[in-house]
Amino acid sequence: MIGNFKVILGISGGIAAIKCADIVRDLKGLSAKVLVVMTKSAQEFVTPTTLTAVGADSVTTSLFNDKSDMPHIDIAKDAQVMVIAPATANIIAKLATGIADDALTTTVLALNCPLLIAPSMNESMWQNVATQKNIEILKSRGVKIIGPEIGKLACGDIGIGRMSEPLDIIRRIEELTSKRDQLSGKYFIVTAGGTREPLDEIRYIGNRSSGKMGFSMARKLLERGAKVSLITGPTELTAPFGCECIRIETVDELRDEVLKRYDASDAVVMAAAVSDYRFKKPVQGKIKKSEGPLNLTLVPAPDILKELGDRRSNKILIGFAAECGDDIEKKAREKLEKKNLDMIIANRVDDDRIGFDSDYNEVTMITLDSVEKIPISSKDSIAEKIVEKFIFLKEKALRSI
Ligand code: CTP
Repeated sequence: MIGNFKVILGISGGIAAIKCADIVRDLKGLSAKVLVVMTKSAQEFVTPTTLTAVGADSVTTSLFNDKSDMPHIDIAKDAQVMVIAPATANIIAKLATGIADDALTTTVLALNCPLLIAPSMNESMWQNVATQKNIEILKSRGVKIIGPEIGKLACGDIGIGRMSEPLDIIRRIEELTSKRDQLSGKYFIVTAGGTREPLDEIRYIGNRSSGKMGFSMARKLLERGAKVSLITGPTELTAPFGCECIRIETVDELRDEVLKRYDASDAVVMAAAVSDYRFKKPVQGKIKKSEGPLNLTLVPAPDILKELGDRRSNKILIGFAAECGDDIEKKAREKLEKKNLDMIIANRVDDDRIGFDSDYNEVTMITLDSVEKIPISSKDSIAEKIVEKFIFLKEKALRSI
């Protein structure tokens, strides 16, 4: 049920734009506020007057002839979801590269909510390597894709490229908005990736963490409406849409960024692989080769999660325990207790099929009174289960008040 939700409908220039009147009508039937943003070519297929006539609350066609000085910012503000239907190959390419040259593309860049796109084009254009590459880029940023479907295309061919039916698009929007209620108003700090401790200005000690688990966590929390600050060590990964992303290198930088936001937060998810040691005194410049052995002194680095656990109030703290060998669950439970956490996710890091670098993992979720094993699955679906468990913990805490 969408209810009093603000939905942005972006329309780009494809023949399927003629179905947009149905999308607007159906969204209005669900009591949504519908703000339409159209490209210039979209207006060749459907007119702003038609969309207003079927109930659109506003129709924006340009950045410059609107009542507002900054229509893209006003439209993006407080929206629960944006859908671009139809999404042409051209708009998909622009989104993938971040081009912002009209009202629709600038609105997308200003978004702070999930983005769903419904591609529609000729089969060869859809299958073109450039389009597929752009779709991959968008998926990696957490953009949701619906369709395209197989059927009769505008050019007369039968193939893949038809925009999904308006009712299917509405169902997908409903799914996205209903999940968003679950964590709206909650603020999460998520850490990801590995830290690097400098030895000199060239070398560092680091670890093999890819950041994938933390990024998946951020994505799944955003999908449920949470506000997320993602603080990450060096990684190639692209930050999901709608989060604040802060890039750090050292434990101290990570600690500073976490503490800066801690008071305002509702929960912290420490998925980062944080160094336990650092060099006592990093050398300025480059250490030159010496004849004999090189002795370096390592001193303990701050344990950020333990520090948060020691001063916790009503926040939920979730840690990850990277373990090898036997008794993984027991070792993780000791960390849960020592660091005063609500939940710890134990994962094995001595199995090449899972863990560091892999898209897959096998974990056990441990709380003070429960143990739940998640068999090998993608990091995204593990993140989904952890978020579900979090919601369960939150509700349980509320019930016991
Ligand atoms: N952690 C932290 N600060 C550190 C080390 C770890 O905040 N200096 C956090 C990690 O982000 C993780 C949890 O503590 O959520 C457990 O990390 P892990 O490396 O498994 O355990 P350690 O406490 O470092 O103990 P050990 O390395 O000896 O297993």
